Amino acid sequence: MDNFSFHNTGSRFALIILLLGMTIFFKGLWVNVPGFLSNNVQHRSQLSCNAGSFILKGMKSCHPWLSCLEIEKEVWVTERYLGSGAEKIVKEGYWQDHPVAVNILRHEDFFHDFQHNLNMLKLFSNESSPQVNKIVQLVGWCFHQQTPVIITELHPLGAANNIHAVLKENFPSFDTLEFRFGLCIDFVNILHILHSHPDGPRVMCDANDPDKALSQFLLSENGSLILNDMDALPLVNKSSGELVKCGHRELHGDYVAPEQLWPYDTKMYDDGEMPHYDEKVDIWKIPDVCNFLLGDMTGASKLQLHLFGIHSECKKEDPQLRPSARMVLNYYKTVRLRLGWNIFSPRSRDEG
Ligand SMILES: Nc1ncnc2c1ncn2[C@@H]1O[C@H](COP(=O)(O)OP(=O)(O)OP(=O)(O)O)[C@@H](O)[C@H]1O
Ligand SMILES: *[C@@H]1O[C@H](CO)[C@@H](O)[C@H](O)[C@H]1NC(C)=O
Ligand SMILES: *[C@@H]1O[C@H](CO)[C@@H](O)[C@H](O)[C@H]1NC(C)=O
Ligand SMILES: *[C@@H]1O[C@H](CO)[C@@H](O)[C@H](O)[C@H]1NC(C)=O
Repeated sequence: MDNFSFHNTGSRFALIILLLGMTIFFKGLWVNVPGFLSNNVQHRSQLSCNAGSFILKGMKSCHPWLSCLEIEKEVWVTERYLGSGAEKIVKEGYWQDHPVAVNILRHEDFFHDFQHNLNMLKLFSNESSPQVNKIVQLVGWCFHQQTPVIITELHPLGAANNIHAVLKENFPSFDTLEFRFGLCIDFVNILHILHSHPDGPRVMCDANDPDKALSQFLLSENGSLILNDMDALPLVNKSSGELVKCGHRELHGDYVAPEQLWPYDTKMYDDGEMPHYDEKVDIWKIPDVCNFLLGDMTGASKLQLHLFGIHSECKKEDPQLRPSARMVLNYYKTVRLRLGWNIFSPRSRDEG
């Protein structure tokens, strides 16, 4: 008996030590990954800037977009590549000790796209609109020097098409179906923002497959999607009836909407004869992007049953019969509620 109670005290002691150790361990973990999925609200979400200025983590107030002079004098570009694409090279840089992403134009042939990206970053950087914190923050640009650059906020987790690897390697315990469905909601929410601009809907053209579509987004440190690459967002002018085309080459595959395919079997592709289309091509792509995000996680097929109704609507051959991004967003939110997933966990978000 004595022996037992001694043992019991010992094990209790061991348990306390274990708990203490775990607390310290997890605290350490939180310190190492500031902000990620925690309620450690970042500066930005508390304080957003007027159009024409920015605020980075650690800054106390907004600063106007950097001028050429400030960029030349105050931005230090490292040799660390954050990534690169056809059009630009993205390097890590610093402005006053704040990490930034330095987007460098690769070749003058792409100058038009580069400039379009800047125009879109400016257009969608308005604090009074719901898009704040859903689109990468513009920090500054300079087109007068030899190589044009655009400076943006740096998101260390990188592009969202790597989501599964990033979660698996760094945050396996956060990788839940609820979390992944939250990313589907983010994606549709950002489409909704692009489609509901007062000038008219903008089409997310650089998105011919789910991997490509998600490579246009970054994963923020608190686990939400942020639109980053805005090189190819043509405008559908509703008042003039002017539609768009995504590029001038023939598109193939199941992933692009049927109206994006060359319609004639008998003739070779001719861009001049290729019909135009509208933002409903983005709606066609939603189910594939969401399925990519959900992956093969346990429970994914059950969730897909809940989404079956709206996803079938998105895949209607006739673009006009497809729902709007707003309707898909509302449906997704309803499903989330029905499944009892709290909108405030594991992260709080405002979805406009
Ligand atoms: N602000 C940022 N923070 C962190 N990583 C970034 C940032 N901006 C870009 N990157 C990385 O750089 C990569 C290339 O950027 P981006 O997609 O804008 O280049 P691109 O040349 O326009 O590519 P594409 O060929 O898709 O047009 C991204 O996929 C991402 O991994
Ligand atoms: C997480 O970050 C996103 C983008 O920066 C922002 O919209 C959102 O409000 C943030 N949420 C929290 C809880 O910090
Ligand atoms: C910002 O958005 C609000 C509401 O959407 C709009 O009224 C205002 O004109 C916009 N400001 C700028 C500078 O674009
Ligand atoms: C849409 O087209 C009309 C008529 O051509 C034009 O006046 C208007 O400026 C266009 N809108 C935008 C946002 O370009």
